[in-house]
Amino acid sequence: KTLKDENEALKKNLQTLKDENEALKKNLTGDTCPKCEEDWELHGGKCYYFSTRDSSWYQSRDDCRRGGGDLVKIDSREEQSFLELRVRQKMNKDDDSFWIGLTDSKEEGKWLWVDDSPLNTSLAFWSGTQPNNYPYVPEGEDCVMMEMKRGADDLKCWHDV
Ligand SMILES: *[C@@H]1O[C@H](CO)[C@@H](O)[C@H](O)[C@H]1NC(C)=O
Ligand SMILES: *[C@@H]1O[C@H](CO)[C@@H](O)[C@H](O)[C@H]1NC(C)=O
Repeated sequence: KTLKDENEALKKNLQTLKDENEALKKNLTGDTCPKCEEDWELHGGKCYYFSTRDSSWYQSRDDCRRGGGDLVKIDSREEQSFLELRVRQKMNKDDDSFWIGLTDSKEEGKWLWVDDSPLNTSLAFWSGTQPNNYPYVPEGEDCVMMEMKRGADDLKCWHDV
């Protein structure tokens, strides 16, 4: 083995280490997908689209999936805070509201996100006495929206509808 070969091998090792370091840095900063499509918003490494089209929960979900996503699943207080602020900015009328990816349509009172994971009750942001399954209609209420008509005390703005 010549000194030149050894030198080449060392250089290769160094480059590998540098690449690994870059990859780790990207993972740590959540910077693996720094770009979102036009009209989508990047937050915490995820892309969000806020649709102001009037539609049912199911229609909204279909639209989301056609766009390569799904109705939003909220994984942290920080994410709820971001969404609460953004939808509030997008609301024009008191009764404007935005669907989120939470439903108890499979079993009454058992709230599941669209990926079938259960709602973590310490990360639930029900407004006031919600969910109330509105007792005056036989079919009750199975889907969840963010609504600010009565404000959002401590980020709590979820209503079953
Ligand atoms: C970065 O994260 C991805 C996905 O979680 C993982 O597959 C990959 O091995 C990670 N890279 C490093 C260098 O830790
Ligand atoms: C529920 O959320 C809390 C607060 O973020 C967290 O500490 C806890 O680990 C979560 N529980 C489950 C089962 O994910």
